[in-house]
Amino acid sequence: MDRPAMMRVLSVASECAPLIKTGGLADVVGALPHALAGQDVEMRVLLPGYPKVTAETGGAREVARFPELFGGPARILSYGSRDLPLLILDAPHLYDREGGIYGDGSGSDWDDNARRFAALSLGAAYIAQDGAAGWRPDLVHCHDWQAGFAPYYLHKMRVGVPSVMTVHNMAFAGLVDEAHLRELKLQPEDFHMGGFEFWGRISALKAGLVWSDKITTVSPTYARELAQEAFGMGFDGLIRQRQDDLVGILNGIDTDLWNPAADIHAPPFRSPAGKSRAKKALRQEMGLPDGDGPLAVVVSRLTEQKGLDLLLEALPAFLARGGQIALLGTGSAAFESAWRLAAAQSEGVAVRIGYDERMSHLMIAGGDAILVPSRFEPCGLTQLYGLRYGTVPVVARTGGLADTVIDANDAALRAGVATGILHDPGSAEAVAAALGRLSDLFADEKCWPKVARNAMRHSVGWEGSATAYAALYRSLMR
Ligand code: ADP
Ligand code: GLC
Repeated sequence: MDRPAMMRVLSVASECAPLIKTGGLADVVGALPHALAGQDVEMRVLLPGYPKVTAETGGAREVARFPELFGGPARILSYGSRDLPLLILDAPHLYDREGGIYGDGSGSDWDDNARRFAALSLGAAYIAQDGAAGWRPDLVHCHDWQAGFAPYYLHKMRVGVPSVMTVHNMAFAGLVDEAHLRELKLQPEDFHMGGFEFWGRISALKAGLVWSDKITTVSPTYARELAQEAFGMGFDGLIRQRQDDLVGILNGIDTDLWNPAADIHAPPFRSPAGKSRAKKALRQEMGLPDGDGPLAVVVSRLTEQKGLDLLLEALPAFLARGGQIALLGTGSAAFESAWRLAAAQSEGVAVRIGYDERMSHLMIAGGDAILVPSRFEPCGLTQLYGLRYGTVPVVARTGGLADTVIDANDAALRAGVATGILHDPGSAEAVAAALGRLSDLFADEKCWPKVARNAMRHSVGWEGSATAYAALYRSLMR
C-alpha cells in the first residue's frame, strides 16, 4: 500500500505541556505532535510567548514578523525538538506580564484576554496564509475558545486552509462585549445568532464552532452530551445543527511519563500487588496513619465542575468504615478552605493545596483508588493515570469518565472485565453509595486484585485516537 502524503497541521492553543499548563488541555496539546508523527502528520504548536515560555525557549529563531498585531509589534519564533516543534507568538504587549496566563493570579481574568487570544488566532491565520520560513500548514487545529477566532479569520481572509475546532470544555465560551467588534477585526454583520453572537455578547468559542470545517470533542459521550441542554452550556442548539460535523475522540496519556514500572517520582511496581512501597511513601508524605481500608486519592482543579463538594458531603460514612483520602489540588478559595477544614477535623483526610507535578505521580502510584466525582467531564485524564497504575477509578458516569471505566457490577465481575466503579453524576448520595461499594470491593480479597489488574491492562495510550485524528484531517484534504 502507498504511504499517505505527509500532512502539515498547525495546532493552536493557549497551553502546552511541559512548558505551560493549568489543566489537561496542556497535556493533550503537548502529546499530539508526537502521537501523530506515526500517522504521517507533521504538527507544530502555536503558543503565546508568555514569560515562562520565552524563558525556556532561548535561541528560538525568528520565522515571521508582524509590524502591528493588536496594539504592538509581534514575531513568530520557531523552537523545539522533533517531538514537540513549537511556533511561539512573541508579542510582549500581550503576553509579557507577571501573573497567571489568564489572569493576575488573584482570581480576576486579564481584561484584554479577548484581544490576547484573538491575536493568537490571527497569528495562526497569517501562518496558514503566508507560511513561516517556508512552513505552511495544510490544516489548522484549534483548541478551545482561545483559538476560536482562527476559523473565522481563515474564512474571512479566504486562506483556503481548512480548520478543526476541538472543544476541551464547553463551560468556557470566551465572552467579550459587542463594543470590541472592530478592535478584534470582527465584521459587525457577523454579530447575530447564526454568527459569533451569544446572548448579546461576542463568543470566541462560538466563532470556532460556526466557522470550523469539523468539530471534535474529547470523548464520544461528551460529544453526545453536548447536544443536550443540560450539558451544552447554551450551545446545544448549534451542536445539534452541526451534528454531522462533530466527532468525539478520546484523549490518551503519555505512557512513558506515566509508567508505574519506571516513574521517577514514585517507587516502581509492575502489578497492583507491588504497590505497597508507593502507598507507604504516600501515607508518610501526607501524614496519614496506617490502616486497613482503601486509600483513595484525588488530583484535581478545585472547581464546581469537579464535584468535590459532593465528595466532602459523602466522606463521613467512608471514613467511619476505615477509608482514607488524600487530596492534591488548587482552585477556588472556598473549596480550598473546605478541604483544609476536613483535613483538620479527620485523621483519615490529608490535603495538599497547590500544584505539584511530583506529588501528583506519588498520589496516583500510592493510592488504591482514584476519585473523580465530576458534575461533567469532557474526558478527564487522572482516571486514565489511575487505570495505568492499577489505582481503581471511582468516577461519575459522564463524558470521558463513562467511556474509559467499566463498572464492577455483577455481570462485569463475572465476565472479568470490570476496571472501576461508576456512579450517577451530581449527587452526594450517589458518591456516598459508590464509596460504600469501594469499601466492599476493597475488602473482597478475591475480586479486588482482579479489578486492579484489569485496570492496569486497559489501554490508555494515544494509538487509536491518533489514527482517528489523522483520518479526520485527511477527510478535509479531499
Ligand atoms: P482538567 O483539564 O479539567 O483540569 P484533566 O483530568 O483533563 O482535567 O486534567 C488535569 C491535569 O492536571 C492532569 O494532568 C492532572 O494530573 C493535573 N493536575 C490537576 N491538578 C493538579 C495539581 N494540583 N498538581 C499537579 N497536577 C495537577
Ligand atoms: C478539559 C476538560 C477535561 C479534559 C481536558 C483535556 O480541561 O475539563 O475533561 O480531559 O480538557 O481534553
